[in-house]
Amino acid sequence: MAAIHPRSELRPGQVVLSPSILSADFAELGAAVDLVSQDADWIHVDVMDGMFVPNLTIGMPVVKALRRRTALPLDVHLMIADPGRYVEAFVEAGADLLTVHAEACLHLHRVVQTIHDLGIRAGVSLNPATPLSAIEEILPELDLVLLMSVNPGFGGQKYIPSVTEKVAALRAMMERKGVQAYLEIDGGISAKNAREVVQAGVTAIVAGNSVFAAADPVAALKTLRAAAVADR
Ligand code: DX5
Ligand code: ZN
Repeated sequence: MAAIHPRSELRPGQVVLSPSILSADFAELGAAVDLVSQDADWIHVDVMDGMFVPNLTIGMPVVKALRRRTALPLDVHLMIADPGRYVEAFVEAGADLLTVHAEACLHLHRVVQTIHDLGIRAGVSLNPATPLSAIEEILPELDLVLLMSVNPGFGGQKYIPSVTEKVAALRAMMERKGVQAYLEIDGGISAKNAREVVQAGVTAIVAGNSVFAAADPVAALKTLRAAAVADR
């Protein structure tokens, strides 16, 4: 049974890997998910609407199809304007964790509350230019905070180095408030910088290009995991 376990159940030094199917071959999506399910913890699904971000991807029907295909939790990242309109539809489709952007919600607290009322876990994401203060008040309500380390919209972009400091600042804020949420990072993560972000405080890693552009995505996941937890 797919479930996002509370962050408190993560063992010390353990990191969640959530490969982003955005970089998979969409004509072979089922096979791609089967393959990475061998070593992934969650499956990251990027939903884009051409309004909040300058790209269009997939919606509820694909989430529904993936739900039938994998037992892993579906970590659904909504890069859409006014996401409250679609929260119920994504929960019905089978999302286990729904992450919305703070920048896209006029009433962020209400959206988070709705996600929880529908019985699944709630995350909030911040674009690189959005300060942590945007989530300070709602932090105790969240199961996950997703820091974007590229400008959302496309896979395969370069990591924005200043986000490492933002991760450390968020980790400090979470410790100050006693918040046990996952701290997820998304964009430009590979075995080269995974350790740096984990040391700064990340507990969940999204990786698209570094997994799916590799000749052997399962080997790439294993390399990423080994790099992420090395010498912790
Ligand atoms: C970007 C998406 C990411 C993307 C990450 O807007 O939210 O999840 O797929 O891809 P990489 O790891 O290639 O930067
Ligand atoms: Zn994403």
